[in-house]
Amino acid sequence: MLKYALYAVLFLVLAALAAAGFHNTRVHFKNKKEMSRYEGAQIAVQKDLGKVLVVYYSLSGKTKDIAERIKAKTNADIYEIKTKEPMPSGRALYMGVRKQIKTKKYPEIETNFPDFENYDLIFAGSPVWWYTAATPVLAFLEQADFKGKKVVPFSTQGSNEGTFEKDFKANAKNAVTASYQKFNNISPKYNSAVDNKIAEWINGL
Ligand SMILES: Cc1cc2nc3c(=O)[nH]c(=O)nc-3n(C[C@H](O)[C@H](O)[C@H](O)COP(=O)(O)O)c2cc1C
Repeated sequence: MLKYALYAVLFLVLAALAAAGFHNTRVHFKNKKEMSRYEGAQIAVQKDLGKVLVVYYSLSGKTKDIAERIKAKTNADIYEIKTKEPMPSGRALYMGVRKQIKTKKYPEIETNFPDFENYDLIFAGSPVWWYTAATPVLAFLEQADFKGKKVVPFSTQGSNEGTFEKDFKANAKNAVTASYQKFNNISPKYNSAVDNKIAEWINGL
């Protein structure tokens, strides 16, 4: 009896490993296909977007990296959304965030927001957490009023942005939202392709 139980456990572990391997391989090839479109000579930003602000939240640096690149290409001001208390790490982060999303009780954030009136266009970036925006960004959206400005959302994620775009647009008060762009976590070897992806996106705004 014990023997069959052990076989069953072994089978389940192997099945889970195979599923994870299949998923990772699929994501790898999808990313490769997408980024191959952007390889080659550097694309220049030709569009003048006026006075630009980049607002972002980033816990482990991926969204910050994209935000900084947008800033460099558009000569933008930049504003980082910051939580009053540090976010937990590991399992406590994942479980805590899940609860925050369920209960809509988001972490407290600093509220020294820039005056959006001063800008022609605002990029707003967030990591994807549990298939939606990171909870500090949901806290920001609860409190911010975009005053009719054009807001361009962007996300960074492992591979699945879930309902990020829909949720962001539904919660961005008085924003004219446009041209969402998503950035999967990918190898640094695609660095210049990511720059071209951003440049093409900006030129299309
Ligand atoms: C709590 C938590 C939940 C996450 N949920 C998702 C998810 O639903 N889908 C996904 O593709 N990636 C998910 N990720 C991965 C992050 O979105 C991704 O690594 C992101 O680029 C991190 O951005 P940052 O470095 O700016 O914090 C999650 C990460 C954390 C910490």
